[in-house]
Amino acid sequence: MTILSQQPLRIGIAGLGTVGGGVAKLLAQNAEIIEQRTGRKLTVTAVSAKDKSEMEALPLGGAKWVADALALSDDVDVVVELIGGSEGIARKLVEKSLSAGKNVVTANKALLATHGLGLAQMAETSGATLAFEAAVAGGIPIIKAMRESLAGNRFSKVLGILNGTCNYILTEMWERKCSFDEALKDAQKLGYAEANPGFDVDGVDTAHKTAILASLAFGCAPDLAQVQATGIRGITLKDMESAAANNSRIKLLGVATLKDGKIAQRVQPCLVPASSPLYHVQGVVNGVIVEGDAVGTVFFQGRGAGSLPTASAVVADLMDMARGVAYKPFILPAAQLQALPPVKASETKTPLPIRIEDL
Ligand code: HSE
Repeated sequence: MTILSQQPLRIGIAGLGTVGGGVAKLLAQNAEIIEQRTGRKLTVTAVSAKDKSEMEALPLGGAKWVADALALSDDVDVVVELIGGSEGIARKLVEKSLSAGKNVVTANKALLATHGLGLAQMAETSGATLAFEAAVAGGIPIIKAMRESLAGNRFSKVLGILNGTCNYILTEMWERKCSFDEALKDAQKLGYAEANPGFDVDGVDTAHKTAILASLAFGCAPDLAQVQATGIRGITLKDMESAAANNSRIKLLGVATLKDGKIAQRVQPCLVPASSPLYHVQGVVNGVIVEGDAVGTVFFQGRGAGSLPTASAVVADLMDMARGVAYKPFILPAAQLQALPPVKASETKTPLPIRIEDL
């Protein structure tokens, strides 16, 4: 029997932007219920961010300021990496922390899609846990669902609206008849967009998330290079009108399928008919469909970006760590993550927008 420490879980947060600020607020706002549910206090004891002044407006109590983000892991139990980006400080901090056996919670899908296998190996070697519920579909608990609740299934397909900014833009353009640029500006103001919004609208962010979902579904290492991605820049109001005439909407979907032992991973604007639950997913909301041999089709919907919805996922990972729950990042031991043969690009249908039925 594991006897859990009742000491507070000491948390170090790196990055106090939209999500980091949300995590600080949520931990303070729901401190009592979080402690009741885990049996421990979750305390932010150290913070590193671009500017120390970012701490002022947040309920960070006596958290220590750490000027060098790479020193954040020294005196904490868990490092929460919310800096972002597949390289640079974010990568160094996560690698340093995992190598030292420190648990890491991150929302960094770019890092996981690019270096996920290496990070999983590091975590396994040191016995640390690497958790990333917030990396895919914001507040929707899709990682936990695939890793735990649906773990008895053989998956054939996982697809969804995985980028809140794109879904917000497509919804606004159609409903307000506004321009692409106007809708993007609003999404940025609301804190939905990536630091480089090209990552949203060119499908890169959705590709990161698709690579992670494919790994969980099919037992392969996340491999961004295998995801063929097209974004939404080319979508016009005319395309939307033609979709509407066919009782459909255009949605940017990330799709991963496994057929005859071959894996296809793609991001593409799709024609989604009113009969699909994804048709009704509007605004910043994300929707994910998972197909499993036992469960059939399961549909998840919820806010995919923004401060508190994403913080909700980060805090859930922290609560698992407070309870001593540990698991392999990509379900299987790193050594068992296989390289599955990809479907050739010439074998997939590419005209835009493609019908969801043809995926
Ligand atoms: N820019 C991302 C989105 C944030 O719009 O969905 C959440 O990953």
